[in-house]
Amino acid sequence: MRIGVTGASGLVGQQLVPALRTAGHAVVRIGRGRDADVPWDPSAGRIDPAACAGIDAFVHLAGANVGQRWTPAQRRDIHESRVRGTALLAQTVAALAPRPRVLVCASAVGFYGDAGDAVCDESAPPGDDFLARVCRAWEASADAAVRAGVRTVHLRFGVVLSREGGALARMLPLFRLGLGGRLGSGRQWMSWLSMDDALGVVRAALESDALVGAVNATAPVAATNAEFTATLARVTRRPALFPVPALALNLVFGEMARGTLLASQRAVPRRLLAAGYAFRHPTLESALDAAVNA
Ligand SMILES: NC(=O)c1ccc[n+]([C@@H]2O[C@H](COP(=O)([O-])OP(=O)(O)OC[C@H]3O[C@@H](n4cnc5c(N)ncnc54)[C@H](OP(=O)(O)O)[C@@H]3O)[C@@H](O)[C@H]2O)c1
Repeated sequence: MRIGVTGASGLVGQQLVPALRTAGHAVVRIGRGRDADVPWDPSAGRIDPAACAGIDAFVHLAGANVGQRWTPAQRRDIHESRVRGTALLAQTVAALAPRPRVLVCASAVGFYGDAGDAVCDESAPPGDDFLARVCRAWEASADAAVRAGVRTVHLRFGVVLSREGGALARMLPLFRLGLGGRLGSGRQWMSWLSMDDALGVVRAALESDALVGAVNATAPVAATNAEFTATLARVTRRPALFPVPALALNLVFGEMARGTLLASQRAVPRRLLAAGYAFRHPTLESALDAAVNA
């Protein structure tokens, strides 16, 4: 296939592009930077539709990073970059002839909000915090593609485990110094996914007609933050004796801490399992070992 990828310069995109090329696909990188094959400016609603002609499938990963303190400007950017970018891409996809086969959009388990111990498959209700509202609007803004009859998949990613970036890369230096510890009570559930499986799930979504609509992109079993901490300590062969109180996280990171580090999402990938997806790293130990030591 000829596959258009937005956010190709990001954590997942940088791994995805070579993986798709190795699998024999041609990749067209759609981005804001100079090195993009197809330039776009989602904030200004600009893309050249003619440059997208002949693309069979799209993977849409672009969106402002959520991993810092959320100032009012950053909240706006987190929301607008996703809603505008997705709407622009979906309208572009809907107008292409011939129609692309599939639009695979990133979303996040943040869709479910702070769901405590509830097990969230794709039918679970959305939450009502900032990230949950962003995820709802993000998914809804692909409607033009859905209405045009393009198979549209919303991959609700859990934390993608990579030492190159994202949540794990931020934790690793402290854990390597033996200064790691659980966050808050440690009872909050973390839904996670190895980088290998993040790439595998995107490929499954591109290839399998059985996958449509919301799809939890998480490993089969979530971990509590305390379990995650203990497993990361084992994998890095260091003690993790320094819990970080919720109060400190709230003081440093504000609502970002409540919305991500302390929020509880126990997602299960019901649709991936029903479609027969075989996880490369179904256990946290194996995923963290691959991310940290491979
Ligand atoms: N990594 C995770 O653990 C995780 C978990 C849940 C959900 N997700 C979602 O999955 C997607 C991919 O994740 P990732 O970790 O690869 O993301 P990332 O490293 O933060 O990169 C996303 C890409 O989005 C583009 N971008 C950044 N700011 C933008 C803005 N203001 N407007 C438009 N585009 C912007 C950039 O591409 P260009 O500069 O090339 O345009 C960037 O490389 C994201 O939407 C993320 O929210 C990721």
